[in-house]
Amino acid sequence: MARLEVRELVKSYGRVRALNGVSFSVNDGEVFALLGPNGAGKTTTISIILGILEPDTGEVYVDGEKINSKKPEYRAKIGAVLEENGIYERLKVRESLEFWGEIYGLSKHEIEGRIEEIAQYLDMKDFLEKKGNELSRGMRQKGALARALLPHPKILILDEPTDGLDVPSREMFKKIILKEKEKGRAILYSTHVMAEAEEVSDRIAIIHQGNIVTTGTLEELRDKFKEEKLEKIFIKAIGYEF
Ligand SMILES: Nc1ncnc2c1ncn2[C@@H]1O[C@H](COP(=O)(O)OP(=O)(O)OP(=O)(O)O)[C@@H](O)[C@H]1O
Ligand SMILES: [Mg+2]
Repeated sequence: MARLEVRELVKSYGRVRALNGVSFSVNDGEVFALLGPNGAGKTTTISIILGILEPDTGEVYVDGEKINSKKPEYRAKIGAVLEENGIYERLKVRESLEFWGEIYGLSKHEIEGRIEEIAQYLDMKDFLEKKGNELSRGMRQKGALARALLPHPKILILDEPTDGLDVPSREMFKKIILKEKEKGRAILYSTHVMAEAEEVSDRIAIIHQGNIVTTGTLEELRDKFKEEKLEKIFIKAIGYEF
């Protein structure tokens, strides 16, 4: 059984059809990349999985159980790094993390232990005492990742986590994604950066205009499209012509 499965998600915003029947599943110990251009439907898909948005039709399953926003207990199973990152402007990073630890139902003792552990892991000790509004974009993203990892989630979801980050921060994110995969987490990761999808993912789904046009390992996609480079595969998959 897949750790996370989405089936036939359909979502429109008014007359704009954002998702047109999106299905895929993510297993433990796997990095699954949702690769698509701007407006493809990546954030919409992720928002539905997280219960931030309701789909028009379609379902999300976690551990084989159909979930909806009325079942909040599944949320501790999912850690997410989104644009809306949960690191508050007026609180110290440590305080934001303490707040989230409580929301996730951890004890005070556990929270303090986890914060120390994660600060070490993500190399963010030097800005734990800074306020949210004093952070650079990279620090903010690390804070969001720290928040996501707090409850030891089974599933980790990252929506373009490296967007706007410098090279060392991007490298750090890639390293952490691979480490979390080694720990057995099911990881769903959206990006529009080919090289990144190529480097970190076990399977890639190419999403375009609300449709998953192809899914497979890089090797499978190479075979199917008779192209070596993911960039070429991508262009063929979305049917883009120069
Ligand atoms: N709140 C909204 N209201 C209206 N239309 C929306 C809204 N959010 C997204 N859309 C539309 O839905 C489609 C999918 O958008 P979505 O944000 O899911 O794409 P994305 O793949 O995350 O893109 P990006 O790479 O730019 O983040 C687009 O056509 C977009 O214009
Ligand atoms: Mg997006």
